[in-house]
Amino acid sequence: MYKSSLVLTVFFVSYVNVIHTATTKKDHVPGRSALDNFPLVDGHNDLPHNLYLKLNNTLKGFHFDKNLTGDAVFGSSDCSCHTDLQRLRKGKVGAQFWAAYVSCDSKSENAVVRTLDQIDVIKRLINRYNNDLELVTTADGIIDAFNRKKIASLIGVEGGHSIGNRMSVLRLFYELGVRYLTLTHVCHLDWAESAEIDKTNSSTIGLTNFGKKIVLEMNRLGMLVDLSHVSYDVMKQAISVSRAPVIFSHSSARAVYNHVRNVADDVLVKVKENGGIVMVNFYSGFIASANATIRDVVNHINHIVDIAGIDHVGIGSDFDGVPDTPVGLEDVSKYPDLFDLLSELNPDRWTIKHLEKLAGRNFLRVFKEVEKIKESLISEPPAEDLLEISNQV
Ligand SMILES: *[C@@H]1O[C@H](CO)[C@@H](O)[C@H](O)[C@H]1NC(C)=O
Ligand SMILES: *[C@@H]1O[C@H](CO)[C@@H](O)[C@H](O)[C@H]1NC(C)=O
Ligand SMILES: *[C@@H]1O[C@H](CO)[C@@H](O)[C@H](O)[C@H]1NC(C)=O
Ligand SMILES: *[C@@H]1O[C@H](CO)[C@@H](O)[C@H](O)[C@H]1NC(C)=O
Repeated sequence: MYKSSLVLTVFFVSYVNVIHTATTKKDHVPGRSALDNFPLVDGHNDLPHNLYLKLNNTLKGFHFDKNLTGDAVFGSSDCSCHTDLQRLRKGKVGAQFWAAYVSCDSKSENAVVRTLDQIDVIKRLINRYNNDLELVTTADGIIDAFNRKKIASLIGVEGGHSIGNRMSVLRLFYELGVRYLTLTHVCHLDWAESAEIDKTNSSTIGLTNFGKKIVLEMNRLGMLVDLSHVSYDVMKQAISVSRAPVIFSHSSARAVYNHVRNVADDVLVKVKENGGIVMVNFYSGFIASANATIRDVVNHINHIVDIAGIDHVGIGSDFDGVPDTPVGLEDVSKYPDLFDLLSELNPDRWTIKHLEKLAGRNFLRVFKEVEKIKESLISEPPAEDLLEISNQV
């Protein structure tokens, strides 16, 4: 009895689905068309770190215009590599934040200098491939580049260790074109704790007074405050002190998969109040316990919309920075499949207009607001605070 009614139900549901698909297929616009209307902005790609690891930042023998899928170095299994120009184009990427990242090993040594190397290699890459890439430092610049069919290329510094505890370096990074600073990477700083602390629930300093002043100085400069990688406490403290909307350049939802790199629901509520954005990370290890697929990414995106609303979600793949990618989202050519799938699974939520928000409209709103707040703070003097410790870099 139970079994036969289940079979009937399954039959009925499939039948309804068939009818539904048949009636909607005809005039259903594929989700990927959103990416032709508005630039897809990806919050985080670690290609520059791979240029350092594999080529010591030497571009002479690097062929970014070739399909690198089968390349001996950039296509090999020991390279966390997912990016080249052909695949970026196929993936309809409109704007990319390239991460200027140096490992925490350099923290008390030469982090600042090595970060300059990474900013420099990003600029050399953009110049070398300037038929396709264009250095962009403003929200309007993203739209202009998109209209000229260029991939807007922005720079984000991943990890506060890169500023060597100095406001001066933060300001000069801005002058070099850097538009976000991730407050920490995986190491704790003298002024902020990383998400690693949440693994043992042993938070002590959170965001210190100096850390809060860094956030305020970033607001004054027009530098986006990136809270991916910081601890739960630092997320909340930074949001409450920031005068501008914040971003998570590459983080997903803790309620969907409990990992310290993801954002908890109560923080998602704060992001909504703050007007900020969580740009969803695709890394298999952050989105599911095993066998991650594109469906898991859909679940993270939908959860963030459920809690924070449609205006506070974006994309921050983490391509080139992770050893495993989900089935269906293997490299930068696959974003259109994600947009198709969202609209296929839930056409009522994921209208083309809403897919444009996910792709880039939400991020553009945040960036413009950060620029507006910079303008409003134009008469505020630069912060002259020094970190009161002896082991400055
Ligand atoms: C990489 O380049 C730096 C200078 O930028 C140099 O000091 C270092 O020896 C180089 N490493 C390798 C493995 O070539
Ligand atoms: C790159 O090459 C791989 C393997 O040959 C192929 O599957 C893929 O479609 C190619 N990508 C592009 C954008 O041509
Ligand atoms: C840390 O706290 C969270 C929330 O209270 C809890 O779920 C988790 O199990 C704790 N982790 C450790 C390692 O104690
Ligand atoms: C993941 O896939 C492997 C083999 O493909 C399978 O053995 C395993 O049961 C799967 N794990 C889960 C949690 O589904």
